[in-house]
Amino acid sequence: MSRSVSVATLRRMKREGQPIVALTAYDYALARAVDEAGVDVVLVGDSLGMVIQGHAGTVPVTLEEMAYHTRCVARGLDRALLMTDLPFLSDFDARSALESASVLMKSGGAQMVKIEATAEQAPIVAALSRAGVPVCAHFGLRPQRVLQMGGYRVQGRGEDGAEAVLADARALADAGADVLLVECLPANLAARIQAEVDVPLIGIGAGPGCDGQILVIQDMLGITPGQAPRFSHDFLADTGSIQSALSAYAEAVRSGQFPAREHCFD
Ligand code: KIV
Repeated sequence: MSRSVSVATLRRMKREGQPIVALTAYDYALARAVDEAGVDVVLVGDSLGMVIQGHAGTVPVTLEEMAYHTRCVARGLDRALLMTDLPFLSDFDARSALESASVLMKSGGAQMVKIEATAEQAPIVAALSRAGVPVCAHFGLRPQRVLQMGGYRVQGRGEDGAEAVLADARALADAGADVLLVECLPANLAARIQAEVDVPLIGIGAGPGCDGQILVIQDMLGITPGQAPRFSHDFLADTGSIQSALSAYAEAVRSGQFPAREHCFD
C-alpha cells in the first residue's frame, strides 16, 4: 500500500523544520479519524496491551495481536505512514526481528517497524535496514524493559545518563534507523539529540525540541483509566468531539503549542 507520507517525507520535514505529528491507533474507525485529522505517522503501539487489553504492561502482547490490529488500522489510512511495534521478545536477535517484521509488513500492512533498542541492539537495527525494512528505534524509557528498569522513570538524567542516551542515539542512527523515538527524557537532552543526529526524532515526554511528537490516543482523549501521564494533555476536554480533539492535537504540535512547559521533564 503506498500512502503519501513516506520515510523521505519525514526526512524532508526534519530538514525544513516542519513538525511531525504522530499518534497511536489500534482500530479502523479511529485510524480513519486520525488520518482525516492530518496526522503524519500512525503507530500501532504495543501500548494496546494496556489501553485495549487491560494488562498492566506491554509484555503479554503477541506478534499475532500486533498483526491483527495493524490490519484493522491499515484499512483506515489513506495518507499517514503506518508504523507497528515489534512486541516483547519478537526481536531478541536479528533473525527473529526479520521474521517478525515480515509478518507485520506482509500480513499486517505495516510500512515501518518500531523496535525498543539501545546501542546494544544496533546490529539488529542494521540487519533490518539491510533487508529493506524501514525502522524506528525507540530508546530512553523502553516500556518493554520496565521490569528490568524498575518502573516508568525519566531516563538520561545526570552527565553519565545523558552520555549513555546520546551514545544510543548515535549508534542507532549509524545502524540505519530511519526514525528515532525517545520517551521520557529531559527536554534539553532530547533537543541535543535532535540537533546532533540527521534522523527525524519523535518524542513522547521529551519536550518541544524534537522533530515531532507522539501520544497514546486514549491519553490525549482523556479516556485512559487511572491517572493520565504528566506529559499528555486531554484535547477532548478542550474541544468536545473526537474529530476536533484530533485536529486540535495536530494543530498544537504544528504550531509548537504542545508540548508546553508543564509536559516536560528537567
Ligand atoms: O506502544 C506505544 O504506544 C509506544 C508509544 C509510547 C510511543 O511505544
